[in-house]
Amino acid sequence: MGIVFNEKEMLFNLKTKSTSYMMGVYEGYLVHAYYGKRIEHEDSLTDALGFGAYRVKSFMARDFKEDGRSPGLCLESLPQEYAAFNSDIREPALHIQYDDGSAYSLLKYEGHKIYKGKKPLCGMPAVYCEEGDDVESIDITLADELKGLKVVLTYSVFSDYDAITRSVKVINESEGKMSVKKAMSASVDFTRSDFDMTSLYGAWAKERRPDKKALFHGTQRIESTRGSSSHNQNPFIAISSKDATDFAGEVYGFSLVYSGNFEAGASVDAYNETRVNIGINSFDFSWLLEPGEEFLTPEAVLVYSDAGFNGMSQRYHKLYRNRLCRGKYRDLSRPLLINNWEATYMSFDEEKLLSIAKKANEAGIELFVLDDGWFGKRNSDNSSLGDWFVNREKLPNGIDGLAKKINALGMKLGLWFEPEMISYDSELYRAHPDWCIHLKGRERLESRQQLILDLSRDEVTDYVIKAVSDVLSSANIEYVKWDMNRNMSEVGNEVLPPERQRELPHRYMLGLYRALETLTSRFPNVLFEGCSGGGGRFDPGMLYYSPQIWTSDNSDAIERLYIQEGTYTVYPPSAMGAHVAAVPNHQMGRTTPIATRGAVAMCGQFGYELDLNKLSEEELEQVKEQVKLYKEISPIIHSSEYSRIKSVYTDGYSAWQFKAEDGEHVILMMCNTLTHANPESDFVKMRNLDKDAMYKERFTGRCVRGEYLMNVGWQHTGRKDFEATFLIFEKMC
Ligand code: DGJ
Repeated sequence: MGIVFNEKEMLFNLKTKSTSYMMGVYEGYLVHAYYGKRIEHEDSLTDALGFGAYRVKSFMARDFKEDGRSPGLCLESLPQEYAAFNSDIREPALHIQYDDGSAYSLLKYEGHKIYKGKKPLCGMPAVYCEEGDDVESIDITLADELKGLKVVLTYSVFSDYDAITRSVKVINESEGKMSVKKAMSASVDFTRSDFDMTSLYGAWAKERRPDKKALFHGTQRIESTRGSSSHNQNPFIAISSKDATDFAGEVYGFSLVYSGNFEAGASVDAYNETRVNIGINSFDFSWLLEPGEEFLTPEAVLVYSDAGFNGMSQRYHKLYRNRLCRGKYRDLSRPLLINNWEATYMSFDEEKLLSIAKKANEAGIELFVLDDGWFGKRNSDNSSLGDWFVNREKLPNGIDGLAKKINALGMKLGLWFEPEMISYDSELYRAHPDWCIHLKGRERLESRQQLILDLSRDEVTDYVIKAVSDVLSSANIEYVKWDMNRNMSEVGNEVLPPERQRELPHRYMLGLYRALETLTSRFPNVLFEGCSGGGGRFDPGMLYYSPQIWTSDNSDAIERLYIQEGTYTVYPPSAMGAHVAAVPNHQMGRTTPIATRGAVAMCGQFGYELDLNKLSEEELEQVKEQVKLYKEISPIIHSSEYSRIKSVYTDGYSAWQFKAEDGEHVILMMCNTLTHANPESDFVKMRNLDKDAMYKERFTGRCVRGEYLMNVGWQHTGRKDFEATFLIFEKMC
């Protein structure tokens, strides 16, 4: 049973296989009681959890007991489950402004409902359950009777995945208008503050760098205001105990299933109590609720691990791979692809593309992806976004003609789109200059010479759906790369009324999600890969529609060690597009061996992005070997349990372990950055193997028992700069 309610004590225990999330009703308020290791018994809030001890501290507002003298309840010292802005003046989870100008809400527990399974989140991506899953949900209703405000907190407990999802519905039951200024998806109060906070910051070509800092007294917060989750911050934070390492200690993960503006942070008060909030960014946000209207937040996914950061990552990987990603390719090995972007950029014709495809086909590559430059008059990034009709000068036989020729080779064809964008120089802009996001009277600033289509408008989203559908129906296209190459500026339009202008970024996301939902269900056999100038929108929201995302435009193998390692913090290897590119690398100018490029890319969704015609015979042979190997190991990588054994950030080299779900195979990838003279001896201790079993390593032929691999380790022998070692261990009987 996932959710237990002790009616006598008014205590809820949301139990996963190894965690408990507890709340109770205390003097009419819903309070947070505990989150951590599983607790079996639902004892009293006041006796077991010491709630009677929550008392007034200086300068705090409070009510009086009946005698009118002794101090009563003080909201500022109560660990509220979902604090509205009121006399609890800490960072609130909810901030509502009423049409009388007041912005003060008092939420009292009203009732709850427990049910099996989980309802979908209307119009937004969310973790889902399938028949047979041990999942239970609870809706807890809070109300401010005076203001006609209702708030429904929904929790779903994924027992086997050790995860809890949360979302919130705000309902206006009054007769006047109200505005949602802030509505977090999840808020958790901790009665301690000896934590670090980890976030994933970055920029274009250097995405998702883990950043761990101690919490201080005050608010520590990350956010995106860019209209997308962004390269710069990822919608995720971890709160960890001071002694947490990669393999031990307490780590709480907070991940938001959303691709737009978000905030996540932790506030510590003077009494060393911490409140963690995650949700849509409240900066420059406001959502008007007419009487009877409701607002739904995106979903937050919480996991707790007492096995350190790897424990947290493994939980997210399993859940997101199996119960967030969807569609035909969720569980399938994906076709091994070659993409022409770094091979040709926009200078290509059919002959050139076919020459790359033929070589790729000879090497065993299965999917040819035609990237940017196939439509309108697109010969540079100055024009044509929005004009989704084929450029006949480059492709006289159209996409259909190309598809037929690619298919005749025995390969699939994939196609790049950037459907959310519009170029000034496009037929679409000339016909609909008002369709982009803009502010009347202000200059429309370009970024990569393009503007953003206003998907908050239904007719614009409908156009996008139709334009992409028309192309996909016109030829045998079996893969789509959905790109997005700028952030929002001059956020506004001339359609929404003034009081709804601040709703635009979230309405945009709802439009985007509608487009993706329509297209992915209309074309269920097409594999979608998300992209945003590399990994600028690598978030759980996009994973719901595209089971893989292009991890970064940085295709240098050494830079990829940093980017991929950071990305594994939350996202599974199955989600990460990773390609072997040409050397010297186009972003870094660095030359690395093809074996290293192959080894690093094989730790994600493997592919190539170079002109194979330019490789030597010897390199081509290596490509063939890599392709053959990846086809064999992709099921292992796809659903593996990943462990970061050595971190490129702290150890100077990477050692990543991928253990197959059935435990029969284990891959160990080690890769050097720069080496030093006279290196110290170093052993990489593998994790979670069968201690008694013998493992045979394929390339060295060595047989080593599990307990040796785990306790003594495998000697790290790579001694050259940028040298990678790729090992496959097979369990012997
Ligand atoms: C950005 C992507 O990340 C690249 O892979 C490529 O598709 C370009 N856009 C094309 O414009």
